[in-house]
Amino acid sequence: MDFSLSEEHIAAKEAAREFAQKDLKPGVIERDSKMEYPAEQVRQMGELGFLGMMVAPEYGGGGMDTMSYVLAMEEISKVDNSCSVIMSVNNSLICWGIETFGSEEQKAKYLPRLVTGEWIGSFCLSEPEAGSDATSQRTTAVDMGDHYLLSGTKNWITNGGTSQLHIVMAQTEPEKGHHGINAFLVEADWEGVTVGAKEDKLGIRSSDTHTIMYSDVKVPKENRIGEDGFGFKFAMKTLSGGRIGIAAQALGIAGGAYELAVAYANEREAFGKTIGKHQAVGFKLASMATEIEAAKMMVYRSAWLKDNHMDYDAASSMAKLYASEVAMRHTVEAVQVHGGYGFVKEYHVERLMRDAKITQIYEGTSEVQRIVISRNILKGQLYLPILEGYMEKV
Ligand code: CAA
Repeated sequence: MDFSLSEEHIAAKEAAREFAQKDLKPGVIERDSKMEYPAEQVRQMGELGFLGMMVAPEYGGGGMDTMSYVLAMEEISKVDNSCSVIMSVNNSLICWGIETFGSEEQKAKYLPRLVTGEWIGSFCLSEPEAGSDATSQRTTAVDMGDHYLLSGTKNWITNGGTSQLHIVMAQTEPEKGHHGINAFLVEADWEGVTVGAKEDKLGIRSSDTHTIMYSDVKVPKENRIGEDGFGFKFAMKTLSGGRIGIAAQALGIAGGAYELAVAYANEREAFGKTIGKHQAVGFKLASMATEIEAAKMMVYRSAWLKDNHMDYDAASSMAKLYASEVAMRHTVEAVQVHGGYGFVKEYHVERLMRDAKITQIYEGTSEVQRIVISRNILKGQLYLPILEGYMEKV
């Protein structure tokens, strides 16, 4: 077993850490309070290559592996989760989805703009009545010969107010159930696309989340992704990788709260010594460190499986499930370590605690992750390679 990082991995991690600490941290509290979209910070992320890290260089991307992306996500998520969710959706759901399943024309047309941040993408699967039950799509796309007419409503759409490109899942043949779902590349300025009000959220408050309405939007045939009827599998496969990104976000949230708690425990004194030397606080730090290390192994392993072209569906669900629960549990504990100071914005931990909650909900709730994991167990597709000592290529 080799746990070492390559020079490329270390460079990605350090670049992201420096950017997060120097450029994101100073304004993060204000942006969060005002629900202000981080336009300048997104521009910088594009310039630094964080928006298309895994995209091949021929389309302007970084050509990096999933592990580099995870390490960068982790560092940015220690500080600003509005920025990291924008980064995660753009990298894992939009760029990866197009690069892996799109036509050559779709890749050439959209990827170069998406990797620089000139364009940002939105992944439009959820609907008012189709959240966890994603096969129940009510949005329709009627085949008109050379184009489709798309109508319906999508909600909880990350980047909804700012993105220029939407990947929209819609029913083309309802009688076929999920086999009648297709995924379409829809440009936000096309006639019939309307963006609803920005959601006022508990966490990731400066990311823009909106409802989007489509009314008889004319979508050219060449903007369908993959073969007819491939849309639901496209969404599921893309979300399997997306969940690695959100797992890395959760890991970063937990790690950020832990770093703040350790610094505070080493500095704050009570009853004649720093509070970290009181067992009540020291034991909290020990539990945090242990569970964060366990989550890290799971998140890095899921990235490693993906990079090595092995089955990562269950591994990414397990990583997201566990890392998001660790993030929630230990951000609460980090606030407790800070006492009253933890309850005010200036100390950053309360924001991380609010941000942690969404990692248990988006890109599949913890309950959905348990569905995916249990189905893989029952199909006999979940293996524990560390115990069994082998890994099957898929
Ligand atoms: N890869 C390929 N195909 C897959 C797959 C995968 N990982 N998972 C499922 N499928 C296929 C199945 O094989 C099946 O196809 P066949 O019938 O041909 O065999 C088909 O998809 C349907 O699968 P299920 O029968 O398992 O479907 P289900 O109705 O029981 O639902 C579910 C399964 C896992 C609950 C799924 O609906 C799901 O993941 N729901 C959650 C949706 C979600 O994560 N939404 C997030 C929104 S995006 C977001 O949050 C982004 C953001 O802004 C941050």
